[in-house]
Amino acid sequence: MWPSVEVPRAEPRPEAGPQGVGSRRSSNISKLPAPAPAVTRELPSFSNSRLNSAIPVPSSPNEVGRRLGTMTRAGMERWRDRLALVTGASGGIGAAVARALVQQGLKVVGCARTVGNIEELAAECKSAGYPGTLIPYRCDLSNEEDILSMFSAVRSQHSGVDICINNAGMARPDSLLSGSTSGWKDMFNVNVLALSICTREAYQSMKERNVDDGHIININSMCGHRVPPQSVIHFYSATKYAVTALTEGLRQELLEAQTHIRATCISPGLVETQFAFKLYDKDPREAAATYEHIKCLRPEDVAEAVIYVLSTPPHVQVGDIQMRPTEQVT
Ligand SMILES: NC(=O)c1ccc[n+]([C@@H]2O[C@H](COP(=O)([O-])OP(=O)(O)OC[C@H]3O[C@@H](n4cnc5c(N)ncnc54)[C@H](OP(=O)(O)O)[C@@H]3O)[C@@H](O)[C@H]2O)c1
Repeated sequence: MWPSVEVPRAEPRPEAGPQGVGSRRSSNISKLPAPAPAVTRELPSFSNSRLNSAIPVPSSPNEVGRRLGTMTRAGMERWRDRLALVTGASGGIGAAVARALVQQGLKVVGCARTVGNIEELAAECKSAGYPGTLIPYRCDLSNEEDILSMFSAVRSQHSGVDICINNAGMARPDSLLSGSTSGWKDMFNVNVLALSICTREAYQSMKERNVDDGHIININSMCGHRVPPQSVIHFYSATKYAVTALTEGLRQELLEAQTHIRATCISPGLVETQFAFKLYDKDPREAAATYEHIKCLRPEDVAEAVIYVLSTPPHVQVGDIQMRPTEQVT
């Protein structure tokens, strides 16, 4: 996530803030990505760069569905009416993933603490006439009781979970030399423990219903593959390295258990969401600057990757998708 581009000279920034070349875009961050008409956006101007030309960029979340193509659509057919749990569905990547799955006809339980945002998204999906449904669920993932109650409610009201998207995650600016223990615990509880509890419960839900083709997808980060030289995200980076190990360990255990349930992680670089605003909650200007240095990924780009891995044939297991903004250096 936080790439630090050092091309022309830019201060390293967290996940959210990479690099910086050129682009000075206005920050347009909303809690829930709202549908908008397709536009043509200008990439930042690099001299002698072919990137300088105007290219069409689908700006609308609704375009996620349109861009998937026939092949993906066919691959998604088997998931119609099945249930996906998306954690952290109240904004950013989780909201985009939840929307894309509802567009594909799935029943989606979206959870987070700010359940009002998910209720708004559910109403939006309904009025858009998407074939699936979004069921909002309030859950504090740092509390195991909340997680277990959620799985119990899903079991009693909707049978169980076929797809688990462990997306919820957060960063606190607590360095290794002077950070607070509480900040480290917050990151560990959500990014590592909650992901592991949800994974275990989702697997048990699949097992008790003889679901052999389920899928567990962890939203990892490029910070789970290299440590950016930015003290504010070193502990965060450690939690994402854990996600890398947990995803591969899960793949091995699923195989040992002789299932065909698949394990995947998706590792984005900088994505324009509320993430940096929560990291730099005392410095909104720093947060906004994070997204202004390069043309970032959009939450819908990550949602497309999720749809892709789900749509591959059952014998294909994508282990990890690493995806950076083209302009991101590290
Ligand atoms: N943005 C990036 O540059 C980037 C890059 C790589 C990877 N990622 C990863 O992508 C995932 C999503 O991040 P994002 O960028 O979409 O950030 P975001 O906009 O801040 O969204 C984070 C989501 O996690 C939920 N969450 C956090 N703590 C929670 C808790 N205790 N209980 C329940 N839900 C909780 C939030 O919901 P509530 O606050 O409403 O509870 C929210 O829905 C994270 O795992 C992040 O590490 C982000």
